[in-house]
Parts: sequence; C-alpha cells; structure tokens
Amino acid sequence: MRMVDYIEKKVNHEELSHDEIQAIVDGFVSGEIPDYQMSALLMAIVLNDMNEREAADLTLSMMRSGDTVDLSDLPGVKVDKHSSGGVGDTTTLVVAPLVAACGGTVAKMSGRGLAFSGGTIDKLESIPGVNIAQPIERFKEIVRKTGVCVIGQTGNLVPADKKMYALRDVTGTVQSVPLIAASIMSKKLAAGADAIVLDVKVGSGAFMKTVDEAKRLANLMVKMGKLLKREVVAVVTDMNQPLGLSVGNALEFREAVQLLSGQVPEGDALYEVCMLLGTQMLLLSKLAKSDEEARSMLKQAIVSGEGLKKLRAMIHELGGDETLLTPKGMDTLCAVKKMIPLPAKESGYVVGMQAELIGRAAQVLGAGRATKEDIIDPAVGLVMHKRVGDKIEQGEAICTLYVNDETNLNDAMETMYAAVHISGKPDELTPMVYAVVR
Ligand code: URA
Ligand code: CA
Repeated sequence: MRMVDYIEKKVNHEELSHDEIQAIVDGFVSGEIPDYQMSALLMAIVLNDMNEREAADLTLSMMRSGDTVDLSDLPGVKVDKHSSGGVGDTTTLVVAPLVAACGGTVAKMSGRGLAFSGGTIDKLESIPGVNIAQPIERFKEIVRKTGVCVIGQTGNLVPADKKMYALRDVTGTVQSVPLIAASIMSKKLAAGADAIVLDVKVGSGAFMKTVDEAKRLANLMVKMGKLLKREVVAVVTDMNQPLGLSVGNALEFREAVQLLSGQVPEGDALYEVCMLLGTQMLLLSKLAKSDEEARSMLKQAIVSGEGLKKLRAMIHELGGDETLLTPKGMDTLCAVKKMIPLPAKESGYVVGMQAELIGRAAQVLGAGRATKEDIIDPAVGLVMHKRVGDKIEQGEAICTLYVNDETNLNDAMETMYAAVHISGKPDELTPMVYAVVR
C-alpha cells in the first residue's frame, strides 16, 4: 500500500495494522514519506483517534526507530520523570537534583518547548556554556559522578519522534492522546530508566483539557510501561494556571534556583508538585518507605542546600557556568531591556486563567518558537504576581513582562488580558492533584 492509502484508512476511521504502522514510521524516518503526507496522517489521527493496540504498536515502532540506551551498568534504580507539557512547569530542574541529593540515580533526557509549553532543554540552554548534546558514555559518566544528568535526546534516540514532534509542533497536531502517549513513552522506554514517574497535566495550559482525557493518557502510558516491564507511576496534576510564577527559560530556571535555595514556601503549587513527583521517584527507587519519609528527605535536601549543590554539579559537568546558580546570579541572566508591569483593568478576584494563552504571550515575546527555525531569547517571558483566587485592585500588576524586542508587545499584552479573568466574587479553586495511577 501507499502512504495515501494509510491516510485514507484513518480518514475513514479504520484501524492501522501493526505492519502498516511499522511501514509508516520506517518510511517517515528514512525520508521516503514526505512531511506533507505525514502531516495529513497526523491530523487524521488527531481527529479520528487510535485504539490502545495501535498506540502500543506506534510506541514500539517509534522506540525501535533508533538507538536504545542501556543504563544497566549504572548502580541502583535508574529513575526518570516526565511531564506531558505545561506552562511554567519547572519541576525537572528542582526534582532531578533533589532526588539525587537523597541518594537517587536520575538519568534523564528532556525535550524542547512544544507549541505553548516550555521544555527543559531550552531552559538548560539559558545557562551560558551548557551543552545539552552529550554522547551517551559521557552522559553516564556524569550520572555516575553526580547522581544526576539531564541532556537532550541524543543523536539517534527515537529519530521518529524527533521528526514527528517538530512536525506536530507546527501543524496543529499535538493534541491527541495516542500521539502524546507514543511520543512520551517511546522516548522514556528508549532512554533506559528502570522506573518512570509521569506527570500528566490537565487544564487550560496542558495538552489534555479534561480530567477524563488526562486519566486516559495516564492509564495508557502506565499500561505501555507494564508491557515493557518498567515501573511506571503517573500522576494527574492541575495546569489551569502556570505551575510556577515564571514563564520563560532563564526566568523559570531562576525560580527553580529560588526553590532549591529555600525561598519558595511550602504550599506553593510548584513546590507541592515537586514534592509529589520527588516522593514517587524516591518510592520507586526504594529509597523511602512512605510518602512522609520521602517528603521529609526532599525537604531536608532543600534546607541543607544539597539539592542546589547537585544542580550546580550537573551544570558544571555540562559545561555551564555553575557560579550563576544563585538567586542573584540568575537575576543577571534574566536582565532585559524593559520590565513592563501589566496593570489590572478592574478590581476583584482572579477567578481563572487560560494558561495556554499565558504560554503564548511568553512565546510571542520570544520565549518559544512559532516555526521550527525560530531562535529563543532566554531572558524574556513573564512573571505572574497573582494566582487564581487572589484579590486584585485596579491598576495593580497582574504580571511583569520581560521584554527585549517590542515587535509583539501589544500582542503579548492583549493575550495576557484575555488570559486572566477577574470577577467581583471569588470562584471555587481547582485541586492541585487529581489522581495517582499505578
Ligand atoms: N511531550 C512529549 O514528549 N510529546 C508530546 O507529544 C507531548 C508532550
Ligand atoms: Ca515538557
């Protein structure tokens, strides 16, 4: 069959067989299948879905499209975490070093920003000198030395996802449970960790807009993990507002450093989700026996500064200037031409946010890409001053925009006004955590 036949099958709601999915992935990776045909198929999948069997076949074909990493010669349980994408989600930069400080072994490959959501690799590159493209042997050496290393997907790891991810980003084909599950799990499985903690985001700033959809994604990924004999736990957490206050690459890195420096209080959403993910990672690593024990270990790693030390050690090994990793040092990386407060047009309560739009506002200021070729400005983005439920006075700043290039400033401001809803009386708050799926 030809690619056009596969596309038509999906358009007609038919199932693709194991062999057909294999042929599609192989053909796309080799270049035989052009971007325009793959885009059409991806759009048909977004609209007409895939069943569990198709999603599992897609995951395995993608995983086998390139190299797989063998971490078995590293000591202990190798634990990885992954977030399904969100706005202001800086958990990796906090949790990976914290878990390492508690004795864990974190070997992780991360992605770049996709659509409105940020990516850890773009954030890492906001530190001058950091090289996220490390050979596997060097990656393992860093893990052995420091207990933690986060790099970009190296060379030939899941080339199918590399090509599909880039194409989906610019063709409106990100939002699909089977495509997201296959994208995440093919990479996680290929990257070789024994245990994986998945953070499935749900809400206005996530790819999953409903709790049911998010649970479907969580369950599908836990099932795929079982299929390949890995320990997988998925949590479903809220993304109806940015998780942290900062949205932008160096800005989010700064918030991670602030948290690891003990400057972010317990109860803060970013802090709490980091505790939840870290707890699951320590439990899977068999380093803690209960949630309470894990949490107190993680807290201790913040108070003692051991977590920040681990992050510094990792940045040093990646070639970056680790001396910048202090709250003050990070301020210099967040320096922009203009810091512009955005005044509220009315008084009341913040009753809701379109986190996706907040991600877009940061993106149009230069924090993310609109096309595959765009270059990111690490310093730009925005810092929120309000959370959902907060009181706000007319003229009070909703957020501060960090701006170098004013070309899209009006667009960013209007997007922010559209994103933040203010009303006379407070609304019910959404929970921070919806489910833990084992
Ligand atoms: N994160 C991924 O790695 N892949 C997706 O498709 C979406 C989020
Ligand atoms: Ca991400």
